[in-house]
Amino acid sequence: KRPQREVVLPYGLQNRVDDLLKAHLSKKSGNKENFAHNASPNDKEFYENEKPFARNVVAEQILRRRSLEMRNRQEDWKGSPEGQKMQEIRRNLPAYKERETLLRAISENQVVVVSGETGCGKTTQLPQYILEAEIEAARGATCNIICTQPRRISAMAVSERVAAERGESLGESVGYKVRLEGMKGRDTRLLFCTTGILLRRLLVDRNLGGVTHVIVDEIHERGMNEDFLLIVLKDLLPRRPELRLILMSATLNAELFSSYFGGAPMIHIPGFTYPVRSHFLENILEITRYRLTPYNQIDNYGQDKMWKMQKQTDRKRKTQIASAVEESLEAADFGQFNPRTRDSLSCWNPDSIGFNLIEHVLCHICKNERPGAVLVFMTGWDDINALKDQLQAHPLLGDPSRVLLLACHGSMASAEQKLIFDKPEDGIRKIVLATNMAETSITINDVVFVVDCGKAKETSYDALNNTPCLLPSWISKASARQRRGRAGRVQPGECYHLYPRCVFEAFADYQLPELLRTPLQSLCLQIKSLQLGSISEFLSKALQPPEPLSVQNAVEFLKTIGALDENENLTVLGQHLSMLPVEPKLGKMIILGAVFNCLDPIMTVVAGLSVRDPFLMPFDKKDLAESAKAQFSARDFSDHLALVRAYDGWRNAERQQSGYEYCWKNFLSAQTLKAMDSLRKQFLHLLKEIGLVDSFQSCNAWSNDEHLVRAIICGGLFPGICSVVNKERSISLKTMEDGGVLLYSNSVNAQELQIPYPWLVFNEKVKVNAVFLRDSTAVSDSVLLLFGGSIFGRALDGYLMMLGGYLEFFMSPSLANTYLSLKRELNELVHKK
Ligand code: CDP
Ligand code: MG
Repeated sequence: KRPQREVVLPYGLQNRVDDLLKAHLSKKSGNKENFAHNASPNDKEFYENEKPFARNVVAEQILRRRSLEMRNRQEDWKGSPEGQKMQEIRRNLPAYKERETLLRAISENQVVVVSGETGCGKTTQLPQYILEAEIEAARGATCNIICTQPRRISAMAVSERVAAERGESLGESVGYKVRLEGMKGRDTRLLFCTTGILLRRLLVDRNLGGVTHVIVDEIHERGMNEDFLLIVLKDLLPRRPELRLILMSATLNAELFSSYFGGAPMIHIPGFTYPVRSHFLENILEITRYRLTPYNQIDNYGQDKMWKMQKQTDRKRKTQIASAVEESLEAADFGQFNPRTRDSLSCWNPDSIGFNLIEHVLCHICKNERPGAVLVFMTGWDDINALKDQLQAHPLLGDPSRVLLLACHGSMASAEQKLIFDKPEDGIRKIVLATNMAETSITINDVVFVVDCGKAKETSYDALNNTPCLLPSWISKASARQRRGRAGRVQPGECYHLYPRCVFEAFADYQLPELLRTPLQSLCLQIKSLQLGSISEFLSKALQPPEPLSVQNAVEFLKTIGALDENENLTVLGQHLSMLPVEPKLGKMIILGAVFNCLDPIMTVVAGLSVRDPFLMPFDKKDLAESAKAQFSARDFSDHLALVRAYDGWRNAERQQSGYEYCWKNFLSAQTLKAMDSLRKQFLHLLKEIGLVDSFQSCNAWSNDEHLVRAIICGGLFPGICSVVNKERSISLKTMEDGGVLLYSNSVNAQELQIPYPWLVFNEKVKVNAVFLRDSTAVSDSVLLLFGGSIFGRALDGYLMMLGGYLEFFMSPSLANTYLSLKRELNELVHKK
């Protein structure tokens, strides 16, 4: 049945929206030309006290006095009993032996590359050595050291540690700053911040005025932000000859960075680790299969209703795991793996084995192994939370009071953070579930066992790293070795790799730099908003420049959605998008949601698309799960609207304290819904910061208008679009690039025999044996015409031409007529303007 009412939108719409955004920007900056001065108010405030003192005699005197005070405080601390104890610990770190060498190299060279085993003291010690040396030279009050970290949590944890080592609290000489949070005082001279924060600072202050040292940590990870920062810094160095740059890396690819900076000196800090034994999946099955506790021995824990039901399927699950594993091994045995091509890795899919294998290995360690902490590497924090819940609901690990289960990821509370580093009481088994951040950026000393699932995913919402929906992918050999090494800090250790050896053999030696494996749209947008000139020219200066074609694709995409104009200049829309920490197209959806006053459902859609699908599809209850999802669809042919209803229902249930039951009944993931909730809060905060939203209420007048919400979804997802042709017994779907496509079976549209709309918009398509659309929303011709493409101030002709291209391709005569008459009206409108 066709919806009764279509949204009728006035044709002058695009101009109204455009004017609105323009007025908003000029009101904010007063300087339309220079967008770089348009930083958010919070940032301005934050950098206010960064202004260097005016060089006059009084100021010099004040600074000198403060420097001497700092020196006295440092001497006092070093003389105190706790201070001496701390000195002792610090002196035992491998980095200490290199202290003088490092300091000399830094004073004599503008750029120095430092490498060393994880835990040798690079991050906590080196910035501190510099600070101490400056204080000793009575320059304490004038030095200004910035040390970047790829992740929020390491910036926070490290700054806290360094402050403690200096006998201070955070915000005295040592501080930190991450997005939306920070601790920094008047006297803070050493600041740990995320790479994104330093990039944002460059936005307001291109010369990093007053900064004396920049330390870029964890460069071996080759994150997009770090590679990006290096290009900018390389440019800056000749303009700031007194500025010092120190690059720190865990593994030994220092040569690459050194030669990028014209042969900068390299210093290696030697370290020591104990041997670690590797167990690949083949051995793990041998070790764990016969030693598990039978499920019927643990009945007294069965109070929890959820767990009881789970228990019934446990035995079945165990068999499933075993057969999935065996199947994969068989595939390996029969030579389906070609270790030389990475493609072959797709035959082996640990996701189908899920958490159960990890659980079995943990169970084995708890029951049969010697004491020592366990570090489990997982793909992302939603997985970590889900496994944590599952392990807590199951007493499989033995007496729960003897197990200390901790999660380690970017958004954990700081109380939990401390527990991770502390050694637990004797007899208590510490198990830390971590993302790949535990690979190099934090060190847990008492780890003896490592469980490595072999995959990694970065879900980061930091300023520049706008790719929150990255899928888990295989790690590199270097990463696998690094993970294994975590088990050998204090004694010989064991590492359980949850994949067969032949899969390990097929891993790449090193992971490709992020710049070469992620879409460049967000990055291109940032290059423009930082006014760094031509995108392709800028990126060609990277350590390993991306393919010109992928740069071109990204630029074209940004033009298509109206973030860049014909001449590659940032449009009004583009300026706004560069301030939102999501993919540009999803950012556009949010802005449309705010402008058209239906923000609430749109934020839910974007949060769902950014985190992951909260609808669970357990393979043994697929039918039940699919019909649970179908209930949310109300036959309106939209996965996205179903998501909105499911989320709203959960929110209501949460208010009545029954969120958990609601999720259980409807096959929803509570973790994912919670993650969406916190992301929504972030969006709202940012929209307020940008100034697009005054209050949540004011942006929701039309939130219940389903047709409008559908139109906004289309506006965000374009050009992700496919045509629908209803056949007798089936539906034929086509996109421009792929020809025929299919729907994922858990899409609400997959159950329909007819879709009474001519188009589907989608966020993601996946190529397996055929091309599948994961999620889709049906839209009408008029919605596509009005909201598809760039309705923001981009030359309308280009937009119409492109739409024309679509029309010709799909040969829809009815649409062609609508299009022609619309084109006439739109053209008139533009020329009048
Ligand atoms: O950066 P790198 O991996 O070289 O080492 P680090 O992070 O500076 O850590 C040096 C030492 O400090 C390690 O032995 C850590 O265990 C210890 N540390 C700590 O006890 N608490 C922290 N929050 C951070 C580090
Ligand atoms: Mg480090």
